[in-house]
Amino acid sequence: MGLAKAGAALKVDSLLDFKGHRVLITGAANGFGEAIARKFQAHGATLLLADIELERIQSLAAELGGVGYQFDQSDSVSVDRLCQAVGEVDILVNNAGILIAKPLLSMSVQDVQALVATDFVGVWQLMRGVGEGMVSRKKGVILSIGSQTAFCGGENRGIYASMKAAVSQLTRAAAVEWGPSGVRVVCLAPGRSLTRMTQTTAATTYKGDRGLERVPLGRWGATDEVANMTLFLCSDAASYVTGETLIADGGYVLG
Ligand SMILES: NC(=O)c1ccc[n+]([C@@H]2O[C@H](COP(=O)([O-])OP(=O)(O)OC[C@H]3O[C@@H](n4cnc5c(N)ncnc54)[C@H](O)[C@@H]3O)[C@@H](O)[C@H]2O)c1
Repeated sequence: MGLAKAGAALKVDSLLDFKGHRVLITGAANGFGEAIARKFQAHGATLLLADIELERIQSLAAELGGVGYQFDQSDSVSVDRLCQAVGEVDILVNNAGILIAKPLLSMSVQDVQALVATDFVGVWQLMRGVGEGMVSRKKGVILSIGSQTAFCGGENRGIYASMKAAVSQLTRAAAVEWGPSGVRVVCLAPGRSLTRMTQTTAATTYKGDRGLERVPLGRWGATDEVANMTLFLCSDAASYVTGETLIADGGYVLG
């Protein structure tokens, strides 16, 4: 991480070797987070897996040979505790999040506060809690999972999309502040993928919009595709990329 390893003949494979890297993945118990954890494990990383679901995160950590932590991203005390507990982190994958899918006119103040706390404040707090050590050690990568909705809105997703747009902006700001210390900060904005989040919301059908018709590649995304892009962005293969939000959505935002 940081400066690319010298040598034009270096194979990309060697840049995707995470042996000796401590990788903290939040929301690792399900969906994208689990796929990302499996991918990093396959590439030799030391896994620090965190989620609100205690049993699931512990069993996954045991299966993959990592350490599991329970935390609640909407609770600042819990996030601070996690940052203390994990120790040094080389790569943070800020993935945990929630979706409350309702029309703006139906959102309650509590709904909005839950989205702000989980999808923005907690994300920032993790960046700060882990980023401080990275800045002092002068190396590290932080990748947050944003969303295509940050770029195109999306019905029933007004506040969620606003939080994801804020994460993209926070990514740029942190990249500017921490770049001189050798820390890269990036964001990956996936398109629609069928995970528990999208399968269990009332908005799964995306009533009223054009759904799959709007995706030039003609299909939903797969969790493994998000994991592949995460690995790439966190690796030295992307060593000159910072502040960027990469949209991986099959072309949805093109309209
Ligand atoms: N699925 C999609 O189509 C899609 C598209 C774009 C972005 N995203 C984003 O991807 C990320 C992962 O979502 P997913 O689709 O894998 O959903 P998911 O529901 O399968 O996984 C989310 C994980 O976050 C954990 N989590 C939720 N609230 C938490 C809290 N307060 N504290 C700690 N952990 C908590 C859950 O237990 C779960 O393991 C989210 O940030 C989501 O907004 C998803």
